[in-house]
Amino acid sequence: MTELNFLAAPGGVLRGQWRVPGDKSISHRAIMFGALADGITTITGFLDGEDCLATINAFRAMGVVIDGPDQGRVRVHGVGLHGLQAPAGPLDLGNSGTSMRLMSGILAGQAFDSVLTGDTSLTGRPMRRITEPLSLMGARIATGQRGTAPLQIHGGQRLIGIDYPLPVASAQIKSGVLLAGLYAEGATRVTEPAPTRDHTERMLEGFGYPLRRESERTVVISGGGRLTAIPIDVPADISSAAFFLVGASIAPGSDLRLEHVGVNPTRTGVIEILRLMGADIEVQNPRLVGGEPVADLRVRHAPLHGIRIPEALVPLAIDEFPALFIAAACAEGVTVLTGAAELRVKESDRIQVMADGLNTLGIAAGATTDGIVIQGGALSGGTVASHGDHRIAMSFAIAALRASGPIWIHDCANVSTSFPGFADLARHAGLDLREEAT
Ligand code: S3P
Repeated sequence: MTELNFLAAPGGVLRGQWRVPGDKSISHRAIMFGALADGITTITGFLDGEDCLATINAFRAMGVVIDGPDQGRVRVHGVGLHGLQAPAGPLDLGNSGTSMRLMSGILAGQAFDSVLTGDTSLTGRPMRRITEPLSLMGARIATGQRGTAPLQIHGGQRLIGIDYPLPVASAQIKSGVLLAGLYAEGATRVTEPAPTRDHTERMLEGFGYPLRRESERTVVISGGGRLTAIPIDVPADISSAAFFLVGASIAPGSDLRLEHVGVNPTRTGVIEILRLMGADIEVQNPRLVGGEPVADLRVRHAPLHGIRIPEALVPLAIDEFPALFIAAACAEGVTVLTGAAELRVKESDRIQVMADGLNTLGIAAGATTDGIVIQGGALSGGTVASHGDHRIAMSFAIAALRASGPIWIHDCANVSTSFPGFADLARHAGLDLREEAT
């Protein structure tokens, strides 16, 4: 099998202004809510990445007509909350944890059986965290012995609302339980240990579904309502912008403007952490687009210093740590991250894989059970493994801006799960990046 690798030449300056692709979390939800709504949902700015295409294909397999994506435009012909049809075979969700956790909640409430599966990474990730609360609601879902996919979901169960304190701060689990709550009798109440991204809550409200936010951490939904189609404008993904926020911060002479970026306060931990490290990031033209805060971000190079990352910011920057570790490697002094054990169960073990890659590049980085300690220093060139993790691949590509030699990054095909066109955009911005199939 051919493998896609990146070769990033050392040095470079990032300049210009553009829009990175659409937000992955919002794109998934737009398809799911659009499918379950009454009426036609028109989406613009949709992320045309493999993860979101997996969600589209799964809903098509359940009888939903979806036009596009065509240059970010999608039309979802909603079938209503009870209009999905039994798929002919297992639903393959590829690399996408969001699709699997959220769809488990939806499918637990259907009259038909379904099977959810995915690639090697996804079928190794923990799923009991979603099947357990759904079982408490009355769902019947079988996992593999290690609590992993494939998930066999037995439909036709009567779901009852539960009062569920989430053991981990996870928007995917919160969302999966709330989606099951659409099909449950009575109220489903979810309380999170710390605030996580609230796109599900915002979109439910946008689609006209009653929802009660009892506090910053507790949300309640009752079954029996309906969703009404709305237009959705997906902002650019702050998780994709993050590579350029870090890249411009570490590369002397850089000055970038990233347009129309989603700056929902449950997602802006990366800006706060970089600013604590000394970054120069301006949030310009803040506005509200379809219930989601959006802004343009201007970032200029600035000398960074190491920090102890506040644990409260961890869920608000959960996908941005691989990029932030590159910022820490280029910072003066030590950066310490704790309270981030979740990073070990992402598309790869992001603590270990980043520590290994940084060590290869001459940086003293030590993995701990729930975080990492990184001593800023001089990055050398070298060969690193991304372990098929899109965000690891893009982070090491950006690291080349400050490396003394070329960086080879193996196994980069999954970059297209979240950021199609990354290499082109990075080159356009000023990174000397080649893609090579071996
Ligand atoms: C997501 C939630 C996060 C995040 C993932 C997308 C979502 O996962 O890492 O990329 O869209 O709800 P967890 O809920 O597992 O933290």
